[in-house]
Amino acid sequence: MALLGAALLAVATPIAVLAQTLPSQSAIASAHPLATQAGHEILAAGGNAFDAAVAVASALAVVEPAGSGLGGGGFFLLHRAKDGFQTMVDARETAPGAATATMYLDDEGKPIPRASIDGPLAAGIPGTPAALDHLAKKYGKLPLASSLAPATRLAEQGFATDDRFAMLAKWRLDALRASPAAAAIFLNNNDVPEPGHMLRQADLAQTLRALAGGAVHFYTGEIARRLVEGSRVAGGIWTLDDLAGYKIVEREPIRGKFGDINIVSVPPPSAGGIALVTMLNILDGYPWDELSETQRHHVLIEAMRRAYRDRTQYFGDPDFVKIPVERLTHPFYSDGLRNSIRMDRATPSAVLPGAPAVAQGQDTTHFSILDQEGNMVAATLSVNLPYGSGFVPPGTGVLLNNEMDDFSIKPGTPNAYGLVGHPANEIAPNKRPLSSMSPTLLMGPDRVGILGTPGGSRIITMVLLGALSFADGHNASDWVSRPRFHHQFLPDEVQFEADALSPELQGALQALGHQLKPSSRQYGNMQAVAWDLRSGAVTAASDPRGGGGAITKTHATK
Ligand code: DON
Repeated sequence: MALLGAALLAVATPIAVLAQTLPSQSAIASAHPLATQAGHEILAAGGNAFDAAVAVASALAVVEPAGSGLGGGGFFLLHRAKDGFQTMVDARETAPGAATATMYLDDEGKPIPRASIDGPLAAGIPGTPAALDHLAKKYGKLPLASSLAPATRLAEQGFATDDRFAMLAKWRLDALRASPAAAAIFLNNNDVPEPGHMLRQADLAQTLRALAGGAVHFYTGEIARRLVEGSRVAGGIWTLDDLAGYKIVEREPIRGKFGDINIVSVPPPSAGGIALVTMLNILDGYPWDELSETQRHHVLIEAMRRAYRDRTQYFGDPDFVKIPVERLTHPFYSDGLRNSIRMDRATPSAVLPGAPAVAQGQDTTHFSILDQEGNMVAATLSVNLPYGSGFVPPGTGVLLNNEMDDFSIKPGTPNAYGLVGHPANEIAPNKRPLSSMSPTLLMGPDRVGILGTPGGSRIITMVLLGALSFADGHNASDWVSRPRFHHQFLPDEVQFEADALSPELQGALQALGHQLKPSSRQYGNMQAVAWDLRSGAVTAASDPRGGGGAITKTHATK
């Protein structure tokens, strides 16, 4: 691992056009084989990676409704080959105009159970439809209508649901049953469909067809009217103005450096990029080759603890709160954090200043794309909990998110993921809730990695472990499959997959004072693409924990 040497003084500068051998193939890794195929179909039709992103995202909205959809939002990190331009398309949901800081509290100031989780009151204004239009028009080569065609076909003709669909529907059964339109679409006779059930989504197909004419047909007009009326009848607070006023924002990515690898990642309103760079800056100052296995795990855990402490303190929507981005991502800042790490014992989180932090989530989706021109997309999209709020406004086929739960509902009170409030992430009209989603590009001198994963607050440490695996020279299937462990400041414990820490290592870490908590199951669903800049070889890998599709293909250039 490239951890030798003192902390780097220079903060990374934007990458220019890569000196490269063009990719020998294009590659797509996504959480569903049908979505990956949809992306390749569009590449074969002459589209670029950005058109393919529209196809994959819209297909996932159809075939993986638990994870993302037109009723949700997310982040698209783009790299354009011809000039090295990089940007993050922020399609995060926004709070409706009538939202207030106390909207999920009762008269006594207590959180109202499930108010920010189930039903339309839990939904932010969706960003994904606006992003698809923007990607097609500003960066794509094909009309939006062409790139939405595979998804429309899947919605109309149907697809066979799988075990994962059923498992997650079972978990959200009550919320889905509470929405007649959602139950009619996603359940079979009001029950979880058996794997193999053909799911057709006529309303969604119609909404996709309208969207093909431009996002204006989603955010205004008949669909907007149905979204607003359907929500309000069931207790929501959306207005036509909220939808008409939604805007995606292009933001400068967060940049860092780890050895000779340039890190390009998501900026606020996700905490992911900054936390990733902070952790890598801390690790970059250790003589890694001289550390024992226990010491390596110890400093990794301590770096995670410190970066997540910062998450609780500083992060929120950058259009509403000032975040000290330069300071937090500067190597000098991490030098200070590193100096507070003792090698002989764990630092109890309670002795670090700061507020409590977040726990994990259960769904969301990530995909990674590389086309044969060298354009890249890393996108993590979400409706938050599996099947979002469970609510579909009648006649739209659009499942609404429950991303409002990513705000701090009440200072000091944990939300569904254990998120505890802090003022920077308080609810305000039109504000974006803080996220952990971390689509990331790793740009080494001779290799590039594109990666990301769902998993709530654990997303950031999964991407960190993936990045370390990349830095170690491993291939994409190793990044996505490596066993995982996680610390997030509070609760003050190391969560780990069964095979992540050997019994000896567990004993050694406990002796240093770390509290260990085995995870009841594996977590994450990482999707990655690797490109060898010398040979042009390309690989794609899907996390073995999920049922994704990773396919490389040669497409004739058009
Ligand atoms: O934006 C976020 O950080 C969360 N809404 C993501 C949720 C998630 O990843 C759930 N997944 N397992």
